Amino acid sequence: MTDLTTERMELRLLTADRAEYGELMAELDGDPEVMRFITGTPTPRADIVDRELPTLLARQAAYPKLGRWFAFGREDGAFLGWFELAPTVPEGREGEQPADDEAEVGYRLLRSAWGSGYATEGTRRVIAHAFDTAGLRRVWAQTMAVNLPSRGVMERVGMTHLRTFHVHFDDPLPGTEHGEVEYELLRP
Ligand SMILES: CC(C)(COP(=O)(O)OP(=O)(O)OC[C@H]1O[C@@H](n2cnc3c(N)ncnc32)[C@H](O)[C@@H]1OP(=O)(O)O)[C@@H](O)C(=O)NCCC(=O)NCCS
Repeated sequence: MTDLTTERMELRLLTADRAEYGELMAELDGDPEVMRFITGTPTPRADIVDRELPTLLARQAAYPKLGRWFAFGREDGAFLGWFELAPTVPEGREGEQPADDEAEVGYRLLRSAWGSGYATEGTRRVIAHAFDTAGLRRVWAQTMAVNLPSRGVMERVGMTHLRTFHVHFDDPLPGTEHGEVEYELLRP
């Protein structure tokens, strides 16, 4: 188990004995503003607890160096959101196995935790883990071009904009016409 700490947060890795974190995911994904650039709509609790959580736990077992860390304030223990290193492949490489020397960095915070620098602080920490402990060569991230808060995090942690590209969606979210962006950071 690799829990991490930052100046203001405890980052606790999701593991099978912490299945109660599914409720925290449901709280987060129940907010339409949090989901605005992801699915555009809140995710029902049952989808998270019955489907997403078991998928994540299976992924955690298969990729023990990566994972999803749940963030709690060190002062008050309050849940803030999560950070992750995921074994996914960038758009355009669907069907490929994820390379074992790269991971997608992700983050999702409760609305009450926005605007305080937590996302930048936590993302820096999981990227340090990716390079220094997991031995990865590349960390990348993808979001809608119009998700400026997310791009702000990518830029503050030193990631480079690699490309803007377009994906076809049957039911596109507002802003899809501006495309998707991919950022990356290579091990120094
Ligand atoms: C993406 C997301 C995590 C970004 O959150 P955020 O609060 O904008 O990012 P940070 O935590 O890095 O905070 C930066 C802001 O806090 C301010 N700030 C305050 N105190 C700070 C501190 N000590 N250190 C750094 N920044 C601080 C910064 O000035 C900045 O404000 P600004 O946006 O007005 O310029 C958040 O919008 C979110 O959870 N969105 C929903 C999920 C999502 O879209 N995830 C990404 C999908 S790819």
